[in-house]
Amino acid sequence: MSTPTAVAGLEILFSREQIHQRVAEIGRQIDQDFAGERIILVGVLKGAAIFLSDLARNISIENTFDFVAVSSYGKGQRTSGAVRLIKDLDAHIENKNVIIVEDILDTGLTLCFLRSLFEQHKPRSLRIAALLDKPSRRLEKIDADYVGFTIPNQFVVGYGMDYAERFRNLPDICLMPPDFPE
Ligand code: XMP
Ligand code: MG
Repeated sequence: MSTPTAVAGLEILFSREQIHQRVAEIGRQIDQDFAGERIILVGVLKGAAIFLSDLARNISIENTFDFVAVSSYGKGQRTSGAVRLIKDLDAHIENKNVIIVEDILDTGLTLCFLRSLFEQHKPRSLRIAALLDKPSRRLEKIDADYVGFTIPNQFVVGYGMDYAERFRNLPDICLMPPDFPE
């Protein structure tokens, strides 16, 4: 029986094995960095949902989850790139160790917006974990504290990431050809 990736017929950029190994490494790093403390993982819906669920299971220290959702206007057309909050935090993050968990750090507009929003709540610490980083696309000065893989400017899907909501379920991270039909 063929795997979901083979069904979609897309080229694999990072296999499920490579992803799982890297996520485990990030989990161990977070355990070391926050030894003896608790953390809140805040996932950015929907792209980071699968990364968050795997990352959380690779972290041994006590952790809880929350999620936010954002939408951006005029992306790719306007450099102003207004980001709007669709779903706010449920948790109180004041004086807590917060790690924002995102699928891709691209222009940086989304994470800059979330970082300044969360800073207003005066967390004890605020870090960013991004599964993928596309530094060549950056418009804002922002870096992630934990990065899975750095990639060139290529559109990717799978492991939570989508093309018009499709392919989030693929276990591997795959390349989306520019001419792919909707
Ligand atoms: P910014 O530009 O604000 O946006 O850093 C990050 C968000 O852009 C989306 N994004 C992608 N989604 N494949 C995707 O499925 C990609 O190659 C890609 N590049 C950027 C993503 O939602 C991320 O949260
Ligand atoms: Mg996203």
